[in-house]
Amino acid sequence: MQVQPATDADAAEIAATEAAAAASPWSRSAIEAFLDAPHAVALVARDGNEVVGHLLATAVADEGEVLTVAVRPAARRRGLARALLDAAEEAWRARGVRSAWLEVHERNGPARALYASLGWTEAGRRRAYYADGGDALVLERGLPPEGISRP
Ligand SMILES: CC(C)(COP(=O)(O)OP(=O)(O)OC[C@H]1O[C@@H](n2cnc3c(N)ncnc32)[C@H](O)[C@@H]1OP(=O)(O)O)[C@@H](O)C(=O)NCCC(=O)NCCS
Repeated sequence: MQVQPATDADAAEIAATEAAAAASPWSRSAIEAFLDAPHAVALVARDGNEVVGHLLATAVADEGEVLTVAVRPAARRRGLARALLDAAEEAWRARGVRSAWLEVHERNGPARALYASLGWTEAGRRRAYYADGGDALVLERGLPPEGISRP
C-alpha cells in the first residue's frame, strides 16, 4: 500500500470509491475540477495499481479542511485512512497550515473512532446538518510546526 498525490488519471477510481463508500458521493466531474484547484490537497492510497482510498482536502492560508475521505469496503481496517490523514498532515505542514477541521456525521462511528485515534477533537456541532436530520460534529486538529503529536 502506498499513499501518493492524486492526479487527473485517478479521478474515475476516486469517483468509484465515492459511489461505494460515501453518503453524498462526489461525481467524477466534480473530482476532476477539484484536482485542478490551487488549494487542493488530494491523495490516493493504492493497493498495487488499484486506487482503493482517497482523501480530498483544502489548504487555504494557514487553515486546512478535510472534504472527503473514503476507503473501499474490501480494503478497510488496514490503516489506509490513517495513512491518508497522516499524509495530509504532512502536506498541510509543508504548505504552512497550522490547524485543520472537518465535519463528521454524529452517527458515523468508524469515522469518529478514526479521527479520535488521530487526535482530532470536537469543536462544535451543526444541528440537523445532514439530509437524514443528523447533526454534524465539527472536529479540529492543531498542527504545531514541530511535528506530529498524538494523544
Ligand atoms: C471511515 C473510513 C474512511 C475508515 O477507513 P479505514 O481505512 O478502514 O480506517 P483505518 O484502517 O485507517 O482505521 C484507523 C482507525 O480508525 C478506527 N476505525 C476505523 N474503522 C473503524 C470501525 N469500523 N469501527 C471502529 N473503529 C474504526 C480504529 O481506531 C482504527 O484503528 P485500528 O484498526 O488499529 O483499530 C472508512 O470506514 C470509510 O470509507 N467509510 C465510509 C466513508 C466515510 O464515512 N468517510 C468519513 C466521512 S467524515
